[in-house]
Amino acid sequence: MKDRLLKLLKTSEDCISGEKVSRDFEVSRTYIWKLINELREEGYQIESVARKGYRLKSSPDILSLAELETYLKTATMGRQIDYFERIDSTNKYGKTHANSLEEGHVIVAEEQTEGRGRLGRSWISNDRKGLYFSLILKPDLPPVKASKLTLIGAAAVVRGLLDQGVESFIKWPNDIIVDGKKVCGILTELSCELDMVNYIVMGIGINIRQAKEDFGGELEAKAGSIESILDLKINRQKLLASILNYFEILYYDYVIRDDFSASLKVARERSILIGREVYLLTKDKKTLAKVLDISDQGELEVLVDGQKKTIYTGEVSIRGLDGYI
Ligand code: BTN
Repeated sequence: MKDRLLKLLKTSEDCISGEKVSRDFEVSRTYIWKLINELREEGYQIESVARKGYRLKSSPDILSLAELETYLKTATMGRQIDYFERIDSTNKYGKTHANSLEEGHVIVAEEQTEGRGRLGRSWISNDRKGLYFSLILKPDLPPVKASKLTLIGAAAVVRGLLDQGVESFIKWPNDIIVDGKKVCGILTELSCELDMVNYIVMGIGINIRQAKEDFGGELEAKAGSIESILDLKINRQKLLASILNYFEILYYDYVIRDDFSASLKVARERSILIGREVYLLTKDKKTLAKVLDISDQGELEVLVDGQKKTIYTGEVSIRGLDGYI
């Protein structure tokens, strides 16, 4: 009922009359007044105008479905949301509950206490300074074909950021870069049988307004937040919705129509690696390579000692010759 009232407030330019709403909702006026006060406590600024009713003046910067709905154009992605003020990790929650969650279910949190990154690293997830969410996917694909999904996610992030006026680049396969700093990472976790995917949890973390000190240590040189790099204000609700909007299109292009071309185009055009000399790092090796292209299959094509090689997974870390990129 509260969501219904909020929707009404959001879609009405004029005041809504408490008396009329109570009649339409078939509840007492006191109950409507109680809901209005609950919304105020959640951070909604609602004006009471004598003899006219209530008017919504502003909404809080939170990532609930009620807030996202205005901007979502999807059929599946983000239509079910578990919203947490605070959680250990949205990916961990996604994996624990994946069997009972449907494709497109989103778990989003304002803060993560044990945010996880790739290769066992942690992901700094301070309260309301970023966008931290995980997406449940259940594609009808053999596991080998699932490796492209990270790049599809990266393409959706790049497009979503562009809608907010942010030019970003992809450091294959899962980092998003703005002005030389990593502002976003994607952690795709897969549960599968030999020939089929059970589920995928795709976790996306975007640094929106962290200060330099929030990263600390060696991360300070490598990571950055969008608002601290560029002089603009990000609307987290619009950003999340537009990433989901783009993701849905790119994902079903691939999963249903086997068409990876739109994602590949973004991955190539927005690649920060193509044409560069880099180091390929594994546990015990550091190899100098020149990045040639991203293949039609989404793999990284490099030249090592004059020989063309294909890098298949993100298990190789890529570093610039004198720094992160
Ligand atoms: C990386 O190492 O670059 C990947 C970082 C992924 C972070 C996101 S934040 C939301 C989701 N929940 C997690 O615990 N991790 C991912």
